[in-house]
Amino acid sequence: MRVVTPGRVFSLAVGFPGPSRADAHREAGRSAPRAGVVRNGRSVCYDGRCRPSEGAKMSEKSGAFAGGPLRRRPTSHERKSGEPWDASYRNGPAPWDIGRPQPAIVRLASAGAFDGAVLDAGCGTGENALHIAALRVAALPVLGVDVAETALAIARKKALERAVEIEFAAADALFLERLERRFQTVLDCGLFHAFDDEERTRYAASLASVTERGGTLYVLCFSDEGLDTGPHPVGREELRAAFHPGRGWDVVRVKPERIETRYHASGAPAWLAEIKRI
Ligand SMILES: C[S@@+](CC[C@H](N)C(=O)[O-])C[C@H]1O[C@@H](n2cnc3c(N)ncnc32)[C@H](O)[C@@H]1O
Repeated sequence: MRVVTPGRVFSLAVGFPGPSRADAHREAGRSAPRAGVVRNGRSVCYDGRCRPSEGAKMSEKSGAFAGGPLRRRPTSHERKSGEPWDASYRNGPAPWDIGRPQPAIVRLASAGAFDGAVLDAGCGTGENALHIAALRVAALPVLGVDVAETALAIARKKALERAVEIEFAAADALFLERLERRFQTVLDCGLFHAFDDEERTRYAASLASVTERGGTLYVLCFSDEGLDTGPHPVGREELRAAFHPGRGWDVVRVKPERIETRYHASGAPAWLAEIKRI
């Protein structure tokens, strides 16, 4: 992510597991800079390692992205598909990008589920986060993060066009602690199910590091029950295994839902999990 504020250009790199500028500041005994944000389409970068994502490719030698702004290792999904997530957004809408918020998230929001500061992990082009932010419940700040710069650019454009106050930032959901922020409510719509077991372990810790105790994580993911399941079907027990009390989580309920996609006529079977940070 590249951003210009009057007189300064910063970069944000909160995904790479190596030492960050924030780490360097801590080691030097100085207070670390806050992670970068985007407000109404303008972003702020904080690291100096950001590079344009245009043409980002996986490096065959290192297994890392040659040109991505976060200098992170490809996820299991990217290794399998051979392409960075960003590629899904470059030639028209991705299969999951339905151009409106997921009905399950709209219902959750209407029921008042999104309280305090909200994080949307893997926000894509931002429809769910924008919907939550547009409700303006108690002026709650909403941050959407993603590794796909093309998706973030689309999300920022929507925010500007709709005049919605929201932040979008390039960040790796596997290393959210680098944001150095805390949230009362966290949403995952379609990200958890794309991670393998090892990533899910890291993801649960990463989410725990930014979620206030007593806060809530909502996960909407493909389910393994029913007909015409999505590409990454998840069992209830997999959710419970990933978010167990030893990792600081309590799965309150997992209920059947639907995820709409561009290729399922009436949505795919899904789980909506409500998970408390303990
Ligand atoms: C299936 S899409 C869902 C997008 C969005 N939540 C929606 O409902 O349209 C998963 C999203 O997670 C993002 N993503 C994948 N790995 C990520 C990671 N490690 N950190 C942050 N975002 C990630 C992808 O770029 C993609 O936008």
